[in-house]
Amino acid sequence: MSTAYDNIVKIIKDRRSIFPASYIKKEIPVEVINQILETANYAPTHKLTQPWRFVVIRKAGLARLGETLGSLYKSKVSSQQFLQKKYDSFAEKTSQADCIIAINMRVSGKIPEWEELAAVSCAVQNMALTAESLHVGAYWSSPPLIDDLGDFLSLGENEKCIGLFYMGYHKEKPWAPNRTSMEEKVRWLEA
Ligand SMILES: Cc1cc2nc3c(=O)[nH]c(=O)nc-3n(C[C@H](O)[C@H](O)[C@H](O)COP(=O)(O)O)c2cc1C
Repeated sequence: MSTAYDNIVKIIKDRRSIFPASYIKKEIPVEVINQILETANYAPTHKLTQPWRFVVIRKAGLARLGETLGSLYKSKVSSQQFLQKKYDSFAEKTSQADCIIAINMRVSGKIPEWEELAAVSCAVQNMALTAESLHVGAYWSSPPLIDDLGDFLSLGENEKCIGLFYMGYHKEKPWAPNRTSMEEKVRWLEA
């Protein structure tokens, strides 16, 4: 019989970033999206500021996001730097996803900003693990253009977009993650 430890370690280790090119055309039911979102709310949060805020982007919203990212890219780079392939990639990736959740942080002013960021990151990891458990592929995308999505997402003054959580069903076979050993990242002080 598998224990709680076995179950959680399997989900943690099996979770991989699954990118839009791997997504298949299959709708993620709203109930599943809500299951994924619900677990974000159980992340640890200093002074209970609960800084995670999300905008769920689906259907025609995806094309609008792709167009917005493309326009922002065009407006930011000079004509010499402009790459048509890069411009096209925004609409391509957003159209491959079935759902994209904008990851936003609300800064309370009650704690250092890095603690709000850390809490939102914990929330996103909860989402990533829940997505894995429901066989939904996902990854956290953080192009610099997210700094300019405030209008598109109708963010408040104390809110900041820190990523786009792409999601889609997929048929990728599991693969081993690329990690060096833990021993080189841990020191024990026992005296
Ligand atoms: C905060 C954060 C931002 C990330 N931004 C990007 C990104 O912009 N583009 C990208 O390809 N992957 C991004 N990733 C995903 C990483 O590429 C991925 O986690 C890494 O390759 C390890 O693979 P794994 O998630 O399958 O273990 C991001 C991950 C995190 C945690």
